[in-house]
Amino acid sequence: MKTETINKTIQPTEEDFLPLQGTDYVEFYVGNAKQAAHYYMSAFGFQPLAYAGPETGVKDRASYAVRQHKLTFVLTTPVRPDNPLADHIYKHGDGVKAISLRVDDASNAWQETTRRGAKSYMEPQRLTDNQGEVVMSGIHTYGDTVHLFIERKNYSGPFMPGYREWSKPHFKTADTGLLYVDHCVGNVGWNQMNPWVKFYEEVMGFKNILSFDDEDISTEYSALMSKVMSSGNGFVKFPINEPAEGKKKSQVEEYLEFYKGEGVQHVAMATADIVKTVRDLQSRGVEFLKVPTSYYDDLLDRVGHIDEDLEPLKELGILVDRDNEGYLLQLFSKPVEDRPTVFFEIIQRKGAKSFGKGNFKALFEAIEREQDARGNL
Ligand code: FE2
Repeated sequence: MKTETINKTIQPTEEDFLPLQGTDYVEFYVGNAKQAAHYYMSAFGFQPLAYAGPETGVKDRASYAVRQHKLTFVLTTPVRPDNPLADHIYKHGDGVKAISLRVDDASNAWQETTRRGAKSYMEPQRLTDNQGEVVMSGIHTYGDTVHLFIERKNYSGPFMPGYREWSKPHFKTADTGLLYVDHCVGNVGWNQMNPWVKFYEEVMGFKNILSFDDEDISTEYSALMSKVMSSGNGFVKFPINEPAEGKKKSQVEEYLEFYKGEGVQHVAMATADIVKTVRDLQSRGVEFLKVPTSYYDDLLDRVGHIDEDLEPLKELGILVDRDNEGYLLQLFSKPVEDRPTVFFEIIQRKGAKSFGKGNFKALFEAIEREQDARGNL
């Protein structure tokens, strides 16, 4: 693999100065990437895609790329103690390092965002091998999290230069119907939601499409506020949460304490058949939050007609909410590491473009029961 830095002057454009084609991949820094990759394959049904590490000329780390439809995760771990990856894991535990975004021109994306105030994480780099080139660049966002811009239109390899194909390990499982990243949520500190909203507006050209205050998202004990940021074309959505005053510690505060700072709270993954996907995930050992069965007693009065049978939704604990444009079905996993930090959402949209406001209360009460069991409420 060859790496070179690119210097290019870009003319500012009028409209969407940062056209995003979607999420390219989500990279997790983890304590043991070999085992984490196995978990995402065995429990979530990802397929092995590519590997980078000492054997491919990458000296300080090992990375496993796994894929399911348009959903790509990279699990990365340091292979030596004294480097920034090891420090990241010591501080945060396993967590999301990079939300990588697909662009047509990664040099342009870096120019447009840094000249609007983004702090550079990686100047545009051209990575090449015999299957073409990938251009990548990156900027910092909340906490130690970064956005990478990935330009891969001239690349035909399995993932990226530096990686080798990893399609035939001894172990492979069927997929679970997870299709793409629907949204990625960030937890930020007290009074930090609006500064980060401004960052996404000014630096990345996003729009604030929805807001929830502590009246919308509160239980008897704890509260949070949230604003949803969307890219110009709507392909990328980032809700941002901050804690709000309540009688007890909110779930966002618990996250901030255990993650030791701001970071990604959950990644929502879309499916076209949530009953099938969740049944499959549960049979493979993925643990989900459960709402009381009373949630289903008046569900159809609240949301009106839905295509699905109520029984399997109740059996699996799937939640339903409706907005002006349709409805959605969703379910949240428990944290997927021992620190109460990152978790996943499984979501099926049937017209609805919102985020399940009607479920917030039942959901947060379920989270509080878990917090209480951990002694953190
Ligand atoms: Fe969500």
